[in-house]
Amino acid sequence: MTAKIAINGYGTIGKRVADAVAAQDDMRVVGVAKARPDFEAKMAIRKGFALYAANPDAGTKFEKAGVKVSGALDDLARAADLVVDCTPEDSGYKPLYEKAGIKAIWQGGEEHSLTNLSFNAAANYEECLGAKFVRVPSCNTTGLIRTLYPLDDQLGVTDVLAVMVRRATDPGDSKKGPINAVEPELEMPSHHGPDVQSVLPKLNIHTIALKVPTTIMHVHALAVDLKRATTEDAVLDVWKRFPRVAFVSGADGVRSTAQIMELARDLSRNRADLYEIAVWRDGVHVTGGKRLFYFQAVHQESDVVPENIDAIRSMLEIQKDGRKSMEKTDQSLGIGIVK
Ligand SMILES: NC(=O)c1ccc[n+]([C@@H]2O[C@H](COP(=O)([O-])OP(=O)(O)OC[C@H]3O[C@@H](n4cnc5c(N)ncnc54)[C@H](OP(=O)(O)O)[C@@H]3O)[C@@H](O)[C@H]2O)c1
Repeated sequence: MTAKIAINGYGTIGKRVADAVAAQDDMRVVGVAKARPDFEAKMAIRKGFALYAANPDAGTKFEKAGVKVSGALDDLARAADLVVDCTPEDSGYKPLYEKAGIKAIWQGGEEHSLTNLSFNAAANYEECLGAKFVRVPSCNTTGLIRTLYPLDDQLGVTDVLAVMVRRATDPGDSKKGPINAVEPELEMPSHHGPDVQSVLPKLNIHTIALKVPTTIMHVHALAVDLKRATTEDAVLDVWKRFPRVAFVSGADGVRSTAQIMELARDLSRNRADLYEIAVWRDGVHVTGGKRLFYFQAVHQESDVVPENIDAIRSMLEIQKDGRKSMEKTDQSLGIGIVK
């Protein structure tokens, strides 16, 4: 079976999910929906995706701009098995999907309570098999789960403190800031800790977040208390088994997120995306056997993309084995070659 996938919202995340779906042999894009007939709408058509107007009244706006639409969002929903909603938070399309009787995936801008099921392929693929509505948590939350789940699974985690230095906005966005300030998130813990617990409910985690004037990546500094004594090499061996964790090294000249993104460009992937979470190999330190410190960088625009593909396979039960789905996704996107 080739699953029919609709993408509602063709912005930073939606256009990446659309390309990733198109790269699979067990699913295809039946159309993408957008609210405005801008350059991204024109690019969707140039790439061969059928374009739909997110708002039924927007048809004329698209027509006036000379952008051909194949219909409105509810037409697209009726033609699909599942919709990946990549619209901004609280866009409120759930009733439309319910009416069309299709399954839906939302992104991390939404609350866990919208679906009561948040997804991470390594941690809970099987729990989401056949589910109607699922949420893929945010880029930061996905980044934390990527490295913490393997540690908890293999070594046991008692406590986590994660300090997150967050990018101000995405590279394509000229509206948001800060552009010359550091902005602490005064909520304590930041929303990321409870969000990690939406997938790993037993993990004892506290998060602190600050926004800084950069657009390319987030950086996390973590202190993790482990149940079992370990070494730096043993920790790296745990992560080596998870292709969505990549290693970079200060000794090789990767001193900052600037070099990580340069490395990503050198990989010649689609949009120079880095789907993996980059851990500094020489930034991993164990003290007293059980306290681990490390730094990781998150490419906010792309780390959730493979998770969306696996969530589709799980919800439509195209593949019941999460590891097999992840292998297939990773192979299609070239994940796992940075070790
Ligand atoms: N950006 C990231 O780094 C990132 C990372 C992980 C998760 N997420 C999450 O992914 C979701 C999408 O974020 P994004 O960054 O991809 O957003 P974005 O770049 O602003 O794109 C949003 C898309 O949704 C469309 N849209 C459809 N209905 C809309 C409506 N009612 N109001 C406004 N726009 C509507 C927009 O169309 P028009 O452009 O035509 O208005 C646009 O194509 C959010 O939940 C976000 O929290 C984002």
